[in-house]
This record gives sequence, C-alpha cells and structure tokens, in this order.
Amino acid sequence: MLNWDDYHKEEITEKKQEKAQERAEPQVQLQQSEQVTNTSNQEAASVSTLTEEDMKLAKEDLDTLEGRVQVDQKAMINSRADLNQLVPFKYEWAWKKYLDGCANHWMPQEINMTSDIALWKSNDGLSEDERRIVKRSLGFFSTADSLVANNLVLSVYRQITNPECRQYLLRQAFEEAIHTHAYQYCVESLGMDEGEIFNMYREVPSVEKKAAWGLKHTRSLSDPSFSTGTPESDKEFLSNLIAYYCVLEGMFFYCGFTQVLSMGRLNKMTGVSEQFQYILRDESMHVNFGIDVINTIINENPNIWDEDMKTRARNLILEGTQYEIEYARDSMPRGVLGMNAVMMEEYLKFICNRRLVQIGLSEEYPGVKNPFPWMSEIMDLRKEKNFFETRVIEYQVGGSLQFD
Ligand SMILES: [Fe+2]
Ligand SMILES: [Fe+2]
Repeated sequence: MLNWDDYHKEEITEKKQEKAQERAEPQVQLQQSEQVTNTSNQEAASVSTLTEEDMKLAKEDLDTLEGRVQVDQKAMINSRADLNQLVPFKYEWAWKKYLDGCANHWMPQEINMTSDIALWKSNDGLSEDERRIVKRSLGFFSTADSLVANNLVLSVYRQITNPECRQYLLRQAFEEAIHTHAYQYCVESLGMDEGEIFNMYREVPSVEKKAAWGLKHTRSLSDPSFSTGTPESDKEFLSNLIAYYCVLEGMFFYCGFTQVLSMGRLNKMTGVSEQFQYILRDESMHVNFGIDVINTIINENPNIWDEDMKTRARNLILEGTQYEIEYARDSMPRGVLGMNAVMMEEYLKFICNRRLVQIGLSEEYPGVKNPFPWMSEIMDLRKEKNFFETRVIEYQVGGSLQFD
C-alpha cells in the first residue's frame, strides 16, 4: 500500500543522493546546468511554433461552430455544435452512466486467485468439460473485448457528435482495457498456454465465427473516409451499434458469463468467476448505454428507421443468437455445472427477445422463459444499483464480492 510517508522517504533519499553527487562531481553539475539552459531554449522555441496564422485558423474553425453551445444544437450524430464544450448537457442519462461507471471502478489484481491456481493445477480438481469451459471463455473474451475496444475508439467515437456520450465512451474504452487485462491476468495466474488461449479466435471454429462476425461489422466504419450524414451511412452506423451493443456485448458474452458464474456458485474457480462478475456488471452498463444511444438516434432520425432498417436490425440480432447457440453446443457437448446446451439455447432466445424489444421490435420467441433467473437478478437494474452501492463501500474497506 502506498502512503504519504513513502513519498516523503523517497524524497529524502533522492535529496541525499543529489547532495552526494554535488560533492563528488562538480564538473558534471556544470555540464548539467548548461544542458538545462539549452533545454529551456528548446522549450521556448517549441512554444513559438504557434504562429499568428495558426491562431487565425483556430479562430476560423471555432467560428464555424456558431459560438457558445445551446442544448438544442446538440445531437447524437451529425451535430455541428462544438464538441469541446461538455456542458450544458442534453443527455443527462449519459453523464449519469459515466459517473456510475467511475463509481464502479475495479482492477483485476484486487481479486484473490490463490484457490483457482490450486484447483487448476490439481489433477482431479476439475472435469475435462469444466476445464474446456474456462479455456473457451478466456479464449473468446480475450479477443472480443479487444474487438469492442477497437470499434469504440477507431469507429464509434468518431461518429458520435455528443460530448457527454463521448465522455462515457472514453470510460467504456478504459473498462474494456481492464477486461482484457483481467483475462490476461487469469491466463497468467493459472499458468495457461497463452498462445492457445489468445489464438482461439483463429483456431476454434465456434469462437472464430463470432470474432469474424464482429470484424465484419466494423469494417466499413474503420475506413477513414467513412462519415455519417446520408441516410445510407447513418443506417450503416446504426447497424454497427446494433451489432456491437446488442449482439457482441449483449448476446455473445452471455453463454460464457453464465457458465463461469455457475462455476463460482458451485465454489469452483471463484477468482475467475469474481473477475467475470465485475466484468458482467460493466457489460450490462455498456449494453444499457448502447441501447439508449441507438434509441436516441432512431428518435432524432425517424427517416432511417424504415422497414428496411427494422428488418436489418432484426436479422443482426437473430443471426447473432444462432452463433451464440452454436458456441453453447460446442463449449458444452454434455451437461455440466447443472446446465446443458438446450437450457442455454432457451436462455439465449430469452435474451434475444429482450434485445429486440429494447430497440422497439417484437419478440421472436414468445413465451420463452429464463432458465437461469439468478443471472437475471444480477442484471436487474435495481440490483445493479445495489451492486454499485455495495461495491463503493467494499472498495473503501478492501473487501470482496460474495456469491450467494
Ligand atoms: Fe468488456
Ligand atoms: Fe463492453
């Protein structure tokens, strides 16, 4: 634990060392002072590169943005209001989500992995089917979170023209980095074959298909010349958001999350499971944010939400559901942890219905029930709220999550 005394000690040690150097090497000190003068000159020179012409151009750029921002100039896409002005807020919900995300901060190293390491290394601690689930989950997620982060930073951020939403996107991007860190931390702690896990998206077909689908839906946006502003490009951007928020984060994560959290509930791989529980909490926030963004774009641009776009949106979610069902069958060839691929298929259809309804479309599988109500509890909004409150208190006292 770092404290102020440590800083103070370091300072004293550094000062002592400096004094000793002064006594021993006066000539060196002279050379150093010459260097300082040279550096100062260089710094002064670099400041002077901002010419009157630069100042004039900056003023012209800002003048085209029509001065101080008014709330009604702000829009989710295609706004010309100055993006450097965070306030006044138009979307209070986005700012609230940013604050909630910050209050939910965690780091992978805070979680104790000791019992996981012992269990993973013992010969008879886990069945082959259970080991397969841990490997498949880390294999898929380690790539998927990178895909999401890249799509956010290289594609989505450029097209969203609202500063409070961009603020949330920056927070989300950092959370995705923490998630990738968490998978790496699990792989390293358990002494797994890094090459096997991190290449699963190239080598295991059911994982490869999901990763390829994500890549396919970010391709057109990663073209530097892509920009929203026409009905076609607005629709393309909306498709990207549906593919990433409703399917990649809102569907492709659910089989693996359910499997690993089941393990934790049975007191197996509790460290990995706790990491996943924190990640799931972040992810359900990401999905909620994404759905709010999607619905805002639809409300502000009703012309693009035509029958063609509705069909396109529905097909994206249905196609994603099928890939996740395929993944469930591959990762769970037999019943394991009190669940099986048939139960998971029902659960994924339940999630599919939910995603469709969340963006204003009708259910595809009416009457499907949730076979894992404990998962639903974790993602219930009120429970999420309680999670945040619990987490903040626990963070302050250095406690950890409990499985019920
Ligand atoms: Fe993530
Ligand atoms: Fe995410």
